Amino acid sequence: MQGVARQFFTLAVVYALAGMALGLAMSISQDHGQMPVHAHTMTAGWLMSAVFAFFYHLLPSAAQSRLAQVHFWLSAASGIGLLVGLFFLLAGNAAIEPVVAISSIGFYAVFGLFAIIALRAIWAPARAGAGRDGTVLR
Ligand code: HEM
Ligand code: HEM
Repeated sequence: MQGVARQFFTLAVVYALAGMALGLAMSISQDHGQMPVHAHTMTAGWLMSAVFAFFYHLLPSAAQSRLAQVHFWLSAASGIGLLVGLFFLLAGNAAIEPVVAISSIGFYAVFGLFAIIALRAIWAPARAGAGRDGTVLR
């Protein structure tokens, strides 16, 4: 694994370590108030980033585009902004709500960018009749 795939998988592992630590903290304290942060860190963080990592690993042509780097950095910034912001919001810091709102919209928009990268990568080679180069997910 290399390039943007490795970056996404590294980010996924960081999310998993942080999200599970929060899950353990919730269990030990018997205070589940941060459940939405834990749930999103594990699913939107660990699972989605791991899916992105394997996607780019399987389709090197998509991984090599400049857009893939834009996808990684905007995804990391909006995802971390969303989760850290939500943590402080649920801890009672209402002033941080705009950060959570902007990060959420950003996270959705960045998924839109991934949709373009992914759909272009899986459909374009077939259209060009060059689908047997080993880079196409079948
Ligand atoms: C050290 C491991 C983990 C601990 C201690 C832990 C702990 C918890 C706790 C205490 C809750 C709140 C339950 C509630 O209030 O109803 C929870 C919910 C949740 N956890 Fe974990 N968790 C762990 C690992 C994971 C993993 C690996 C995933 C997914 C990959 C995950 C996904 C979720 C989700 C999606 C919810 C929300 C469930 C719902 O909507 O009711 N957790 N977890
Ligand atoms: C723009 C991004 C997203 C926003 C704004 C968002 C918002 C929300 C909201 C408002 C809830 C209900 C929380 C509650 O009732 O306590 C929720 C629940 C949930 N979401 Fe998301 N979500 C987003 C992305 C995702 C993604 C990408 C995943 C998984 C890949 C996901 C997985 C879940 C799960 C498992 C729950 C149930 C656990 C919980 O209640 O916290 N979400 N989400």
